Amino acid sequence: MAAKLLSFLFFSFHFLVFQLHFSAGQDVVRAAYWSAGSEFPVSDIDSTLFTHLFCAFADLDSQTNQVTVSSANQARFSTFTETVQLKNPYIKTLLSIGGGSSSASDFASMASQANTRKSFIDSSINIARSYGFHGLDLDWEYPSTPTEMNNLGLLLNEWRVALVNEAANTGNSRLLLSAAFFRNSDYYTLDYPIQAIQNSLDWINVMAYDFYGPGWSTVTGPPAALYNPGTQVSGDYGITSWIQSGIPSNKLVLGFPFYGYAWQLVDANNHGFFAPTSGPAITPNGDLGYGQIKDFISANSATEVYNATVVSNYCYAGTTWIGFDDTESITAKVSYCKQKGLLGYFAWHVGADDGWTLSRAASETWGS
Ligand SMILES: *[C@@H]1O[C@H](CO)[C@@H](O)[C@H](O)[C@H]1NC(C)=O
Repeated sequence: MAAKLLSFLFFSFHFLVFQLHFSAGQDVVRAAYWSAGSEFPVSDIDSTLFTHLFCAFADLDSQTNQVTVSSANQARFSTFTETVQLKNPYIKTLLSIGGGSSSASDFASMASQANTRKSFIDSSINIARSYGFHGLDLDWEYPSTPTEMNNLGLLLNEWRVALVNEAANTGNSRLLLSAAFFRNSDYYTLDYPIQAIQNSLDWINVMAYDFYGPGWSTVTGPPAALYNPGTQVSGDYGITSWIQSGIPSNKLVLGFPFYGYAWQLVDANNHGFFAPTSGPAITPNGDLGYGQIKDFISANSATEVYNATVVSNYCYAGTTWIGFDDTESITAKVSYCKQKGLLGYFAWHVGADDGWTLSRAASETWGS
């Protein structure tokens, strides 16, 4: 009898430790965004290659300050979690709000007052719960004044309190909270609200791409360089700036692109980094998914180069030059994440991969 009681206590103790361990934080984030705009079928996502998937994007209604999902997206968003759980029952999903084409000033306005922040926060929780997401992800691109940065801090603090309270009131596990940020101390040298970020977010998705593109660079460049000596435009600079600002490395998740940028070279014989160009190639903005880039390479017998110093791939054929991340870059970046003790990595976006080549390279490099 005593032995049974002891073994019961022992088991309970271990169960408790197990639970504490998992509620203390995420062990690893091997993630990708799914972009509704890509029209990639959710049921085709190989969720076994990820621990977390971000469903992008929900919108901010500027009239009500509530999180909304457009009618075109409602069916896919509301079934997103159950669909990706079919292949991986352990996958965690987060509803991502905002994105590059949302209005930064709408977010600034929402975050500027307590009552509008509350509308936003309450509606985010309602929609996450009703659709079955495990968390929420803020993609406000970007706060652009010190006041907006301060309001971002208030929003994050109040959001976290609301998530904790909701979990306590309902008995559900707390919704996760992440945000996608650029470097700390940006081009416009604004400081993010470090203390609020540290206290409120489970992790930061550090967007380490779009450093060079034909829309803003007249020369070719490594679009998502991990290193770029003498400049502030690299993934390593971004990660280092967050760590120096006081965010621990195990709260940082490095982002890399499953897409690249194509430029038109001025001179077909000048085809390295920082070569003069006359603008975008192939698409209006020059952006191409990894699968499209691989198709271009085989159709044009393009020359492929991997530069391990900056950690970037590029290819060229005639006067077309494309900078992107191939398996060498992805593998080197995931190794970097492990060396630096980062929480993990994320990719934008799953639908641009080619037969899961990059997703699998990342997952296998991280290991189990
Ligand atoms: C890689 O790119 C850097 C930056 O342009 C350059 O200095 C270096 O020579 C390149 N490495 C190789 C092996 O081409």
